Amino acid sequence: MRRTITAGNWKMNMDHVEGVSLAKDIVAGLEGRDPACEVVLIPPFTTLPAVVEAVDGSRIETGAQDLWYEEKGAFTGEISAGMILGLGCRYVLVGHSERRHVIGEGADILAKKLRAALSGDLFPIYCVGETLDERENGMATTVVTEQIRQILEGLSGDEMGRTVIAYEPVWAIGTGKTATPDDAGTMHAVIRSVLAEIFGAPVAGETPILYGGSVKPGNAAELLAMEDIDGALVGGASLDAKSFLGIVFPA
Ligand code: PGA
Repeated sequence: MRRTITAGNWKMNMDHVEGVSLAKDIVAGLEGRDPACEVVLIPPFTTLPAVVEAVDGSRIETGAQDLWYEEKGAFTGEISAGMILGLGCRYVLVGHSERRHVIGEGADILAKKLRAALSGDLFPIYCVGETLDERENGMATTVVTEQIRQILEGLSGDEMGRTVIAYEPVWAIGTGKTATPDDAGTMHAVIRSVLAEIFGAPVAGETPILYGGSVKPGNAAELLAMEDIDGALVGGASLDAKSFLGIVFPA
């Protein structure tokens, strides 16, 4: 059975003091309970060491929001896969829509970042998703397929086996608009079939494909009930322990 994941992407929120308090509340909320999914917290870089410490001994995993693709050197402002792994983190986001559309990262950088994450023994969470314009022009499937092929083609089956996908329609991120379970489920099935074409059905069948975009306790259960949706990448609702836990344990 493929694994399921609920990941909280805190974005540029929660300094190291606020972050520890939130992480501790989430640890407390998980105590004595057995979630069906892996739980991953993805704080800003400066908050990350404190959160790693705060969740030590719990079942919570941690991740970074980004990385640079070189191992070290003159790359002011950047951090490497080795630095992230060295903290004890397992996951790293690659290709989040804010990196693509606000910061302007293109396919060549994302391909290098994804490979750097894998060769640095991290599990990349590779994010894909169409803009509203692309969806309205009937391009959603083409765009997402291209984002998958462009970056993932050429990976070995073993590397793909360590990669997680997150489908996050750009128009649903932070907007309160969520894709319907049917629309999201359809796109997840498309992604899995593209993965099957590239890597074969067994690898595609094992790849967790998370949904992201205004996931909240009130809509998590119906999204997660879809066959090809294997968890959630949560932004806004992950900044509050109660709402994040309401997604980890969807009612
Ligand atoms: P949101 O963000 O849940 O606030 O829409 C999701 C994301 O960007 O990962």
